[in-house]
Amino acid sequence: MTTPPQMPAIRVAMMPKDTNAHGTIFGGVILSYIDQAGAFAARAFGAPKVVTVSMKEVQFRQPVYVGDIVSFYTDVERLGNTSITVRVTVRAERYRSPGSDVLVTDAEVVYVGVDENFNKVPIRRPADPA
Ligand SMILES: CC(C)(COP(=O)(O)OP(=O)(O)OC[C@H]1O[C@@H](n2cnc3c(N)ncnc32)[C@H](O)[C@@H]1OP(=O)(O)O)[C@@H](O)C(=O)NCCC(=O)NCCS
Repeated sequence: MTTPPQMPAIRVAMMPKDTNAHGTIFGGVILSYIDQAGAFAARAFGAPKVVTVSMKEVQFRQPVYVGDIVSFYTDVERLGNTSITVRVTVRAERYRSPGSDVLVTDAEVVYVGVDENFNKVPIRRPADPA
């Protein structure tokens, strides 16, 4: 239930437009990518759409800087009836330190499968028939 080893769901370079008043990367930018990365993982379980119901235990462990290449890794932790819980781990390769790999943020995000009318639908486990 994990994306392939070392294969991030999203990999992106941070730009000056992404900064906060301190000149480091705005936490909301990181949260937005976390939400997208987790949704990519959650979409693998058969629901026509997934919506985010909660973001928990978000920890900003280290700042992210302009020029850092930031990777968002996903790990599906729990499958419920309609919900999918995804841990998203965010790691930065520092602009000034090519090859570096710094844990900067992690979070647990819960998605719910919904149909075209945004009504909840049961998710499909890998063993379930298509
Ligand atoms: C997501 C939504 C469809 C859930 O509807 P609901 O009737 O409140 O759903 P329920 O209380 O029955 O919970 C549905 C599932 O979500 C889980 N869930 C609900 N709130 C949760 C929370 N705060 N934390 C973790 N899981 C939660 C429930 O445990 C349940 O899981 P299960 O079916 O696997 O047992 C509805 O709240 C909604 O549309 N929210 C807005 C979503 C949105 O706009 N997101 C932002 C943009 S994507």
